[in-house]
Amino acid sequence: MVEDKNSSSVREITASNRVAWDEAAPYHRANAQYAAHLAGFARPGHSCLDETLTGRLLALGLEDKDVVQVCCNNGREILSIKNLGAARCLGIDQSAAFLAQADELAAAGGIDCEFLCRDIYDLPDDLRGAFDLAVITIGVLCWMPDLEAFFAVAAGLLRRGGQLAIYEDHPILNMATEDPTQDPARLFLSYFREEPWVEETGLDYYGNTTYKAAPSLCFFHKFSDIFMAARSASLELREFEEFAHNIGTWPHLENQNAQLPLSYFLRLGNAA
Ligand SMILES: C[S@@+](CC[C@H](N)C(=O)[O-])C[C@H]1O[C@@H](n2cnc3c(N)ncnc32)[C@H](O)[C@@H]1O
Repeated sequence: MVEDKNSSSVREITASNRVAWDEAAPYHRANAQYAAHLAGFARPGHSCLDETLTGRLLALGLEDKDVVQVCCNNGREILSIKNLGAARCLGIDQSAAFLAQADELAAAGGIDCEFLCRDIYDLPDDLRGAFDLAVITIGVLCWMPDLEAFFAVAAGLLRRGGQLAIYEDHPILNMATEDPTQDPARLFLSYFREEPWVEETGLDYYGNTTYKAAPSLCFFHKFSDIFMAARSASLELREFEEFAHNIGTWPHLENQNAQLPLSYFLRLGNAA
């Protein structure tokens, strides 16, 4: 539970973002990518995780691990983690509309995975210390208005010796544009931007449909912000690697001579 001087503005921001994500859900549901996930999860053992994340998670030994995914969206990644052999699996997201899709994907394969519809800044106490591994993937940190509080919540989900695995877009992409018609070598915004980016044309990154949407606010967190917020939650660095491959909405920035880093894997641990 976040209770500090910023908590009311954090709540206002996450509430507005929740409306925007719920609005996006039917657009994602109607897209062929969703149909592919539905067909995929009907097959036993299906996983949508790429080679990079699969290898790193399997190296941790999933069999006896209780795993929570923070901001799981339609659940496809935590369902994949369950299919890769994890023990208890829980996906948390504040969008009821996306979690309805998660339930549908789970039902397609009869996959035993729990989902919880909650703002990550307002989790029930019984989740504290309940997991061996917390996972965050692609496009989560940018939605967090208070990064320190977010890392405190994520760390609080972990048992003693637990780990937090983050596979995310590289923060340098805050400077770039998702518009594939632009020169990929050009940078557009400051890495040091402090004000949130406000989007009002929707969050349909599956189909790229635009529509009049509730404002969603995302934030430009620098790597220094991420590391210092993790440190403030007493999480220690265990593994960190940057990659040239796209894991989000940046395929046009791959395979350049002057290659920007596009993604990273960061593993943090609390004291054993
Ligand atoms: C871009 S998705 C990323 C999830 C996943 N990696 C994916 O690719 O689908 C971001 C998710 O974060 C969720 N989210 C944003 N802010 C949240 C909050 N404060 N509490 C819980 N979920 C939140 C949104 O509802 C959305 O489903």
